[in-house]
Amino acid sequence: MAKDRSVFSCQSCGTQSARWLGRCPGCDEWNTLVEEKVLAPLKAKRSGSVRSAPPPQPIGELQAIAEARSSSGIAELDRVLGGGVVPGSVILIGGDPGIGKSTLVLQALAYLATKGAALYVSGEESPQQIKMRADRLGVDASSLLVFSETNIETILDQTKKIDPVILAVDSIQTVFTDDLQAAPGSIGQIRESAARIVQFAKRQGLACVLVGHVTKEGSFAGPRVLEHMVDTALYFEADRGHPFRILRAVKNRFGSTNEIGVFEMKQEGLQAVENPSALFLAERPVDVPGSVVIASIEGTRPILVELQALVSATALGTPRRTTLGIDHNRVALLVAILEKKMGVQLGGHDIFLNVAGGVRIDEPAADLGALLAVASSFLDRTIDPQTLVIGEVGLAGEVRAVGQVEARVREAAKLGFLRCVVPESSKRQIAEVEGVEVRGVQSIQQAWDFLL
Ligand SMILES: Nc1ncnc2c1ncn2[C@@H]1O[C@H](COP(=O)(O)OP(=O)(O)O)[C@@H](O)[C@H]1O
Ligand SMILES: [Mg+2]
Repeated sequence: MAKDRSVFSCQSCGTQSARWLGRCPGCDEWNTLVEEKVLAPLKAKRSGSVRSAPPPQPIGELQAIAEARSSSGIAELDRVLGGGVVPGSVILIGGDPGIGKSTLVLQALAYLATKGAALYVSGEESPQQIKMRADRLGVDASSLLVFSETNIETILDQTKKIDPVILAVDSIQTVFTDDLQAAPGSIGQIRESAARIVQFAKRQGLACVLVGHVTKEGSFAGPRVLEHMVDTALYFEADRGHPFRILRAVKNRFGSTNEIGVFEMKQEGLQAVENPSALFLAERPVDVPGSVVIASIEGTRPILVELQALVSATALGTPRRTTLGIDHNRVALLVAILEKKMGVQLGGHDIFLNVAGGVRIDEPAADLGALLAVASSFLDRTIDPQTLVIGEVGLAGEVRAVGQVEARVREAAKLGFLRCVVPESSKRQIAEVEGVEVRGVQSIQQAWDFLL
C-alpha cells in the first residue's frame, strides 16, 4: 500500500523534488523549496469516480445562517473584527515580538470564557508565566484553560475533548506536526499546522485565534504565508517609544478592512482608547509653523491627526523628500503643485513630512493639509491651531470634494476646533455644525489666502 510521503515544492515555480535543495532547479531561485505533505490515496483511484455532495443550488433558495457574533469584551477589537468573533472563523494576529499579542489574546479569552470554556495554548510560555501575566492583567476566569503544548495533533485532540467556544494558539511558529520532518517554525510546518487548525475550526464551528510573529524580513516564515488561509488577518503596529498600539485588519471576510483599533499599553494590560483624536493631538505644539490638523476617516470613524512638515535649505545636490505615515509619491506630487501654482521654489529645500502619533494616512482628503503644512513651514508662518483642513488637491490646484465631510467636521467640533476649511463642493452637502465656522474653498490659492 502506498504511504504518505513528503515532497519539497518550489514556492515560486512549483517544481518538486524528493529532497531539500538550496536552489530550485526549475527557476534558479534560492531558498524557495518547502516541505509539503502528500497523502497516499486511500484506494486506487477509479476513473470517473465522484464524491457525493449536495448538487449546486440556486442562491435564492439558500438559507443564510444568523450571524452569531460574540463580543470579545474589548470594544476596539470588536470594531476591527467587524462586530465580534464569528464562530468557525480563524483570526490571525500578527505583530513584532513584545507588542502585546499575547496580552490582547489573553484579555479577550478571559472575557469569552464567561460564555463557555476558552482554551489558550501556549508554545512559548509555561503555565506559570501565563499565570503571572494573568495576575497582572487581573484575569481570573475558571473556565479559561491554559495548555502548554506544541504538537498540533495533541492540541486538536485536547480541543475536541474540551469543546471550547474559542481556541487560541500562541504562537503558530511554535507548533508542529509529526508528519513533516522540518523543524517547527519552518514555512512548511507553519502552513501545515495552520491548515489543520483551519480545517478543524470549520468542521467544529469553533472560533480560533492564531498568533504569529512577524520576522525582521517581514514575510518569510512569518504570518504572511497564512493570510490566504485565515478569515481575518489583523496586524498589531506601534511606533517605537509610543505606548499606543494600532490594530489593523488587512483581510476580513466578516467586516471592513479599514477599521483600526487603538490601544494603550499599561501595567494592567491593553486598554482601548475611546477617543483617538484627543490622543493623537495631545502633544501637539501650538503656534508652530508646519503643523496642520486634518481629519482622516478610518473605517467608519473620523480621526483627527496632526501633520508636521519641516522645510529646510539643503546642502545636497538632490533635495530630500522624506515622509513618515503618508505616501511619498503623493507628497512629491503636492510639492510639484505647490511650486507650479503658488510659485514657491522648493528645489533647494529638503522636505520632511510626518504624521504624528504613528498613524498612517492613505486618503486623498489629507492632500490640502499636507500641502499647507509644507507651505507653512517654508514661509515660517503658523496656521491657526484651531482650524481643521480637509480636501483633495487636483493637478490644476483645485480643491476637490471628499466623502463624509460632516462626520469630520463634527469630530473637530467635539475637540473644540473653531474653523474647518473644506472643499466648496462638499460644504453644500453638510448641515450646520454648532460652534464651527465652515469655510469652503475651490482652489489651493483660496485656502492659502485664508490660512497663511
Ligand atoms: N510588568 C509589566 N508591566 C507593564 N508592562 C509590561 C510588564 N510586562 C510586560 N509588559 C508589557 O507587555 C509587553 C509584552 O506583551 P506580550 O503580550 O507578551 O507581547 P507579544 O505576545 O506580542 O510578544 C511588553 O512589551 C511590555 O510593554
Ligand atoms: Mg507572546
